[in-house]
Amino acid sequence: MHTVKLKKLYYSYEKTKVFQNNTLVLEVSQNQKNKLYGIIGPSGTGKTTLLSILGGQLKPQKGSVYIDDINIYEVGDKERRNIIAVQMQTATALRGTLRENLVFGIQEDEVLNKDEYLIDVLRRVGLWSLFENKDGLDTLIGEGGVNLSGGQRQRLNFAGLYLRAKHYKPSLILIDEPTSSLDEISERAITQMIDELSQKSVTFVVAHRLKTLDQAVGILDTSLIPTYPELKFYNKDELMTVSQYYRDLQAGKAQLEE
Ligand SMILES: Nc1ncnc2c1ncn2[C@@H]1O[C@H](COP(=O)(O)OP(=O)(O)OP(=O)(O)O)[C@@H](O)[C@H]1O
Ligand SMILES: [Mg+2]
Repeated sequence: MHTVKLKKLYYSYEKTKVFQNNTLVLEVSQNQKNKLYGIIGPSGTGKTTLLSILGGQLKPQKGSVYIDDINIYEVGDKERRNIIAVQMQTATALRGTLRENLVFGIQEDEVLNKDEYLIDVLRRVGLWSLFENKDGLDTLIGEGGVNLSGGQRQRLNFAGLYLRAKHYKPSLILIDEPTSSLDEISERAITQMIDELSQKSVTFVVAHRLKTLDQAVGILDTSLIPTYPELKFYNKDELMTVSQYYRDLQAGKAQLEE
């Protein structure tokens, strides 16, 4: 059984209280085939903040965060990496070669480190064509090298997350889905890769495309936080009855990308 528990969560930025005494309890059997959970909500309602808190990057001012009964703020980075893999919304800075950026954190993994494997992952996320006629995996990127667009960075970040998840087989994967436009092919590929990861690990995805939610077994809607302090993953039928925002999305009156 995998568990994610937030108790009496309180988080406030200087000017904005995002969480006040909120709770989340999720239990997922390892046998459950599909462990994909979506997070939706209007801009500024705390989706990224929630992911950062769960990922160990933003310690709440009050309350506790347990994943598989481990308090993630009481363990070191190394142990945390075995429990959680995170991809945040804004891609991190790049330096060095394409390969170095891709295998950061999994240098010792002989299976995943193979050129063919890395190239295959790059192909799937639609990035390989950019590098194959340059220096391939040894192409320098970031400052002084090939400059990548925001969307390309996010796809590279996603490729890195995919590799780390394959290596560490964490209990929980957290993905803040790229918002910037992807072409249809890499979009489908990324959806497939997310589905693949969620067969093995409980996977929370802040969804910016309705397509991502197709396979989701539960959806947490942050527009409900002011009314319901319990953060809950609803199935789609339940969410239709409790959430105006979700009804608006379904009716095309609201957009996830906003
Ligand atoms: N670093 C920060 N400093 C101050 N306020 C912040 C910071 N990050 C977020 N906030 C505020 O906290 C609230 C929640 O932000 P958060 O980024 O979690 O929203 P979100 O649901 O991820 O939005 P989006 O869909 O636009 O990504 C917002 O009101 C935002 O302005
Ligand atoms: Mg966000």
